Amino acid sequence: MIKKGIILAGGKGTRMSPLTKAVNKQLLPIYDKPLIFYPLSILMLSKIKDILIIVNKGQLNQYKKVLPNGKNLGIKITYLEQSKPRGLPDAFVIGKKFIGKDNVAMILGDNFFYGQNLSTLLQNNTKLKEGARVVLHKVQKPELFGIAQINKNQKITKIKEKPKKFFSDLAITGLYFFDNKVVDYSKKLKPSKRGEVEIVDLLNFYKSKNQLSADLIGRGGAWLDTGSMDDFYKTSTFVSAIENRQGLKIACIEEIALNNGWINKKHIKKSIKFYGNCDYSKYLANLNK
Ligand code: TTP
Repeated sequence: MIKKGIILAGGKGTRMSPLTKAVNKQLLPIYDKPLIFYPLSILMLSKIKDILIIVNKGQLNQYKKVLPNGKNLGIKITYLEQSKPRGLPDAFVIGKKFIGKDNVAMILGDNFFYGQNLSTLLQNNTKLKEGARVVLHKVQKPELFGIAQINKNQKITKIKEKPKKFFSDLAITGLYFFDNKVVDYSKKLKPSKRGEVEIVDLLNFYKSKNQLSADLIGRGGAWLDTGSMDDFYKTSTFVSAIENRQGLKIACIEEIALNNGWINKKHIKKSIKFYGNCDYSKYLANLNK
C-alpha cells in the first residue's frame, strides 16, 4: 500500500500573473477554499496520511498559516522548499528522505479531480507494488497536453508531450503513483531544452522497462488543470454550481478526515475555532451535529 504522498505546490505561476506576484497559485481561491485543499483532499481520499508539500523558497509561512501541520486532520504534513522550479521529477529528489524505502504518490498542486467512484480508483492505485501508474482523462484538444496511448492491458504504449499529430486523446493528469525506484530514476534525468527535468522522460524510463500502466477516469469524472486564468475561474464555477445545488462541499478536508475515522468531533471544534466565523465553519458545525 502506498502510504506517502507529495503535493508539488511551487511553480512560477507565469500564466496567472499578476495574481501570482505576491501569492502562490495554490493559495488562491477556488470558489470557497484555497486551491491546495483540492489536491490535499485527493491524497486523503486515497487514505494517504503522510504528506509532503513542496513549496517555493520563501513561501513556507504563507502555507503554514492555512495548513499548519495536519494535527486537526489526523494527518502528518511535512514541508520542504524548492529553490527554483526545476521540473516535476525534482519532487522526488527533494523528497528523497521523506520517501525513504517506500512507494509514493504525487499530485500537482494545481490539479482538480471530481467524480463518482474516484475514491475507489484512488485506493486501487495505492495498491501499486512495482512500476509506475498514471491517471488518464479524455480531452478535446490533445495538442495541449501530455498524451498517452494504452493497450487492452492498460499498459502505456506511447507517450508524447503536446503532440502535433493525433494518436490518442487521453491526457496524462497530474496524479502519479510510483515505486521506490522513482528517486534513483529522477536523479539520473537531464534537464530538457527548457531547462527543466521532464515528467515525460521519467515516465518513458518506466515505459522502457514495460512498467508503466494507466487508469482511466471515465466520462462521469472531471479533471481540470487550473493553470490558466480561464481554467481557474471555470473550476471555481464548477465547484460553486455543485456545492450550491447539493449543499455538500467538495474538498472539505475535515469532512474527509472525519469520514476516514482519523479525527473526532473535538478536532472539528478546534478547526471551527481556527477558521473563525465563516460559512466554511458553519458547514463544519453541521458535521458535528
Ligand atoms: P506548471 O503548470 O508547469 O507551472 P506553473 O504552475 O509554475 O505555471 P506557469 O506555467 O503558468 O508558470 O506546474 C504544474 C504544477 O507543479 C503547479 O502546481 C506548480 C508545480 N511545480 C512545482 O512546484 N515545481 C516545479 O518545478 C514545477 C515545474 C511545477
